[in-house]
Amino acid sequence: MCGIVGYIGPKPAAKFLLDGMSKLEYRGYDSAGIAVYDGNRINVEKSVGRLSSLEKKLDGRFPAGHVGIGHTRWATHGRPSDVNAHPHADCSGKFVVVHNGIIENYLHIKEQLIAKGHKFVSETDTEVVAHLLEEYYQGDFEAAVKKVLSEIEGSYALVFLSQHDPDKIICSKQDNPMVIGLGDGENFIASDIPAIINHTRKTYILSDGEVAVVTNDSVWVTNRQGVPVSKKVFEISWTAEAAEKGGYEHFMIKEIYEQPKAIRETMTGRLSKDDSTVLFDELKWTKEEAAAIKKIVITACGTAYHAGIVGKYYLEQLARLPVEVDIASEFRYRSPLVDSSTLAIVISQSGETSDTLAALKEAKRLGARTLAITNVVGSSIAREADQVIYTWAGPEIAVASTKAYTTQLVSLCLLALYIAKLRGAIDQAALQKIIRGLKNLPEQAHEILEDVEPIKTFATQYGFNEDVFFIGRSLDYAVALEGSLKLKEISYIHAEAYAAGELKHGTLALIIEGVPVIALATQTDVYEKTISNIQEVKARDAVIIGLGFKGDKNLQKYVDHAIFIPATEKHLAPILAVIPLQLLAYYAAVTRGCDVDKPRNLAKSVTVE
Ligand code: F6R
Repeated sequence: MCGIVGYIGPKPAAKFLLDGMSKLEYRGYDSAGIAVYDGNRINVEKSVGRLSSLEKKLDGRFPAGHVGIGHTRWATHGRPSDVNAHPHADCSGKFVVVHNGIIENYLHIKEQLIAKGHKFVSETDTEVVAHLLEEYYQGDFEAAVKKVLSEIEGSYALVFLSQHDPDKIICSKQDNPMVIGLGDGENFIASDIPAIINHTRKTYILSDGEVAVVTNDSVWVTNRQGVPVSKKVFEISWTAEAAEKGGYEHFMIKEIYEQPKAIRETMTGRLSKDDSTVLFDELKWTKEEAAAIKKIVITACGTAYHAGIVGKYYLEQLARLPVEVDIASEFRYRSPLVDSSTLAIVISQSGETSDTLAALKEAKRLGARTLAITNVVGSSIAREADQVIYTWAGPEIAVASTKAYTTQLVSLCLLALYIAKLRGAIDQAALQKIIRGLKNLPEQAHEILEDVEPIKTFATQYGFNEDVFFIGRSLDYAVALEGSLKLKEISYIHAEAYAAGELKHGTLALIIEGVPVIALATQTDVYEKTISNIQEVKARDAVIIGLGFKGDKNLQKYVDHAIFIPATEKHLAPILAVIPLQLLAYYAAVTRGCDVDKPRNLAKSVTVE
């Protein structure tokens, strides 16, 4: 879970490296380092802490040279420290390497290298790669890299630089992302597009097992055995501004405000003009294919898992198929009952989450049809799944997921309607009603975002409370789970979500005078029951913030404060209801002075198990 950059060309390498690393800090930010070849030797500069610590250390004295590699780290093997920061070098300092992932057999390799006299300075798994390269080098850099790759096991995106052959950078990947930016007389390497978007829009997206030899004016890609691979140029369509913060104070609030547009883009081209049907050109299923599905399993992590829970309601209620939802790290170890009649759906914003990728591979191994819902084109999960629905939310930089969640919900709703129609599980009037509701969502989301003052006020009022509870029934419960995660991850307030009917089975003991309880009441079929649960907590003197549809005067009678969202179909309510909860979490975090975009202990893309 680290960010990697590389540059080779006529310009000063350090400038690109530091700039690119700043765009990748969301991938990890506990230490940073660069290595630049100055014409004689490779100079390595690194520092524990954020990139700004390295910049402070350099104090404007950037290592000179036109070829270099850089890294922002999120520690796995070895705590964050100067010495564990990448790049790592061999004993001679003539080979340097940056790495994202885990070398699983590093201890075994390390013991062998120590026996041969190699001296290690760090606690990382990565350092063995540099030493192994030194061990295997016999005058041919590329051959030595390939030999190293044949020996290491695990997941990696690796970039190699050698003083023996400084006119090239070599990179390779396995289960971690890597993109090569194609310039004019210069080339770029990065873990992710934001690092290179200001320099080029033409890219090669490396696939697992590929090795690229990158020079000023060429990129030569082979597999690990040396067989040439012909790559298609992938043009990045994202604008540079889309990867930047714009005028907002944080990426998170910018991304919250991008939701009307993101929701619209998720639906673009997927709804017929006459509101009669959902179109999925990327799926093109026949009725027979849809009828062959007997069960659906959804796996994902974190916020994407919460989207999966909403998806269960959609697929069961609209398409009338049984659905299991599993946390990806649990799914793979529970001997799931999956076969060729199962549709396995994985949901992942980044498309790189290690547990979700592993769950996908497990479902495939068991014979399931697989479908990924992801935001990142060319990501590992997108490439591994049989079929992909892209959410088209644009890059999400803040660690806390917002627009990815709402666009995942829209995608799941579209999918449920698509399957429902193919299976004849929904009548046309009901289908049309939901499609019309979907079309109204961007405008309704915009309406919520136009009036955030009351939410700001609650956040300031309750931002210093220690505990907050979220309750709801049915789809409101699913949204409560996401609201609670948002609050805890960015504001560090302890938050719990409960199915409203479940409180009295234990947790009610924690509800005492003044504890804020956020009660969602958008689901009409369980509305009265939710109101009873609100009364239960009110009787314990909790402070209740109710969330319901505009015009719900009844709700106001039972709560201390009310937040209203525009009325919509019950299935679409989660897509709107989550927005005030995202805002509440955001303003609570700001009130408490938290690092909103980079909460402690978390990173954007979790590519280790
Ligand atoms: C929370 C959050 C995480 C991610 C989770 C899965 O705001 O962002 O819980 O949802 O790490 O990430 P993806 O969707 O990239 O697989």
